[in-house]
Amino acid sequence: MTTQTQSAHIIDGVELSRKLREEVTARTQTLKARGITPGLAVVLVGENPASQVYVRNKVKGCQDCGFHSVLEQYDAGMTEAELLIRIAALNADPAIHGILVQLPVPAHINANKVIEAISPLKDVDGFHIASAGALVTGMRGFWPCTPYGCMKMLESISYDLRGKHAVVIGRSNIVGKPMALMLLQKNATVTICHSATKDLKAFTLQADVIVAAVGKRNLVTADMVKPGAVVLDVGMNRNDEGKLCGDVNFEGVRQVAGHITPVPGGVGPMTITMLLVNTLEAAERAAK
Ligand code: GUN
Repeated sequence: MTTQTQSAHIIDGVELSRKLREEVTARTQTLKARGITPGLAVVLVGENPASQVYVRNKVKGCQDCGFHSVLEQYDAGMTEAELLIRIAALNADPAIHGILVQLPVPAHINANKVIEAISPLKDVDGFHIASAGALVTGMRGFWPCTPYGCMKMLESISYDLRGKHAVVIGRSNIVGKPMALMLLQKNATVTICHSATKDLKAFTLQADVIVAAVGKRNLVTADMVKPGAVVLDVGMNRNDEGKLCGDVNFEGVRQVAGHITPVPGGVGPMTITMLLVNTLEAAERAAK
């Protein structure tokens, strides 16, 4: 028999998303009353099945909030030059406030070149170097959606990051690096751990907040977590039964942590929600 010493509060990403999307819908109505409808263009090149699911969900999120949205799907043979021409057209289209090119793009297309072709004013993914630079310097731009969603989850539990030790595991441009910068901006002491880190557990045991964003299941186990810590799980993996799971051993860690996000139903739904927030924000800025 196992005895349950403590059970963490579960931060529900579905419920938080619902609340935030309600706010987005209300702000959209206000903007529409002024004759402006937020517009998102989602561009997918190739037939990656996971990407097809993601882009459908993004377009559905737009529809639910009353946005205008266009889904442009091209076959894998589209050239980089052709894609750049489409992006230029979307940059110039006043009905489009946000542009998202679903990644990965086929190997013959340079993803960086494509991202840099998007107008920073419409970069609702927050991947452009202008957005990255704005985040580094604390200027106005767009924050990448997944780490932005993690910050909203911390906000939802009124968590004060000042002076806290946050350990981010993973250093991707999309999650780990921007996550560390956002936590720093809220006055946390931030450590970034990654594949070359020696003794990961020595770092995580000191963490008040752990963000796991590696893509490796059971990376974070109960023995690695300080009692009461907040654990945010960005991982998206499959277990042996094919079920979705994160980077955190949820059943073990929930006995130790103070707050934890589940997978599914945690950070995942927040990503699209923050894309909607960014798109609305882009439309509001354009309206000013
Ligand atoms: N591929 C996986 N995640 C993302 C994302 O957040 N945005 C885009 N554009 N592509 C992705």
